[in-house]
This record gives sequence, structure tokens and C-alpha cells, in this order.
Amino acid sequence: MAVTKYDVGANDEAGDEFLLRRLDYENLPSHVAIIMDGNGRWAAVRDLPRVSGHRAGATSVRVTVETAARLGIDYLTLFAFSTENWKRPRFEVEALMRLLKEFLRKELRTLQKNNIRFQMIGRFEDFDPSVLKAIRKAEQATSQNTGLLLNIALNYGGRTEIVDACRRLALEVSEGRLKADEIDEQKISDRLYTNSIPDPDLLIRTSGEMRVSNFLLWQIAYAEIYVTETLWPDFRSRDFLTAIIEYQKRDRRYGAVRQPKPATVAGGSIRED
Ligand code: FPP
Repeated sequence: MAVTKYDVGANDEAGDEFLLRRLDYENLPSHVAIIMDGNGRWAAVRDLPRVSGHRAGATSVRVTVETAARLGIDYLTLFAFSTENWKRPRFEVEALMRLLKEFLRKELRTLQKNNIRFQMIGRFEDFDPSVLKAIRKAEQATSQNTGLLLNIALNYGGRTEIVDACRRLALEVSEGRLKADEIDEQKISDRLYTNSIPDPDLLIRTSGEMRVSNFLLWQIAYAEIYVTETLWPDFRSRDFLTAIIEYQKRDRRYGAVRQPKPATVAGGSIRED
């Protein structure tokens, strides 16, 4: 897919070339989910306000979307605002909402040009109408695009998502549209915010924290987890490519046992083919 290059400045083209040669294009993750963390710490070490970290983080979002689209990844889900993030100081919440609106306004044309579909996942309640309007506009404008699906998780919580799915199922049962014993894993998956999307293959978390922080709790059951010390505002295509190369080294067994390769006897010793 031809993707117009964003002007991101800080990408290391030569380093990327080296990493790109090491990628196995037959074994790319179809769905990558990212917990973008470390904006505050990035700002603190520079003696800057936290909001500067979020602004720098928005550049990493652009770079990452570009890299995912160029690689031909099908789904990219970014955790931008959790149901718990409303507890942050009001000016920080407002700054995050402003950054989101700015991103959607500035990037819409680029999303279109690159056939990227944008979608929000999370609870729609609680947003300022101007934020919701910008989200709806971007969703509608890109709804016919067939390339990368960019999901931005906003006012999102994994447990809340499961609660919402349970409520939908309970309603269907109470209205006689579904029997309780017909509920299975697929029926639950179908009622999550991510209903038509396959589960993530790779979950990346930046800033070294070893937590899943209530993100896609149901969907990451078999995701490979990659944690990098890099703070989100420093995250560039080389970090993304490194994560994918690491993912490609993993042996995904989904709870099963890999069949051992047949051993052949050669010259009295056992040789593994
Ligand atoms: C976590 O860092 C980051 C967030 C809560 C917000 C993520 C937002 C962005 C990347 C910017 C704008 C987003 C879009 C979609 C344009 P933190 O503040 O918790 O960092 P800390 O743990 O170092 O304090």
C-alpha cells in the first residue's frame, strides 16, 4: 500500500532499513495494541509540564500509525484515555481532549489519503459534545476506507467493556432473543467494543511498567506481550519494528504442545532435523 510519509523528523531511516531487512513479512501481527505510557515522566526529566509530554506523545501516535500502515498491519489499537483518567487534574484532561481534537482535525486528510479507517472504542458518555463531534466526523469520513483500522481507546476500561457486554447479553435473554445456555465465548466477543476485530496478536507497553492496566482484558488472552523501557514520546518506528521482530521470535502455542520434529538416528547419535 502506498502511504504518504508523515513529516516526523526524528525517524532514523538508516536504522529502520536494517530492522526492515530482519522482518518476516509472512508473519506480521495482524492486530497490534499499544499501552502508550510515560508521557508524564518524559516531561518531568525535561522539567516541562506533563502536557508537553502528551503533546510529544501525539507525534509518536502519528509515527506509529504511519509505520503500521506502511507495514500493512490490519489493526492498530491505541490506549489514549482510560475510564480512570478522568481523575487527573482538570487542565490535564482538557489538554488531552484538545490534543485528540487537534490530531483528528490535522490528520484526517492523511488518514483518508492512506486509506486508514478511524474508530473510537470505549464509552461514549462523559465526553464534551465538541470531542464527540470530532470523533464522529473522523469515523464517518473514513468509514469506507479499507486499509489499516486505527482504533483509539477513549474513556475505555476493560472491565467496563465486559460489564457493558454482560448487560447487552442480559437484555437479549430477558427479551427472549437469546437463551442463557447459548452464551459462549464468541457471543461475548461479539458484544465487546471490538466486536468485529480479531484479538490482538501483540500488546506493546512503553515505559517499562509490567501491567496490563485494564486494557482489552478479554481480548489479550493469547497476545504476546512486549514491554519496552522507551517512554511513549520517544517511541519511533525503530521501537515498533524491534517489537515486531521480538514477536516473530515467540512460539505461539495457544495452550497446546508443539509437535516435536522427528529425530533421526545418524551414525549412532540422534540428530535433530
Ligand atoms: C500515559 O502517560 C498517557 C496517557 C494517559 C495519554 C496518552 C495520550 C497521548 C499519547 C497524546 C494524544 C493522543 C492522541 C490519540 C492524539 P502518563 O501521563 O500516565 O505518563 P506517566 O506514567 O509517566 O505519568
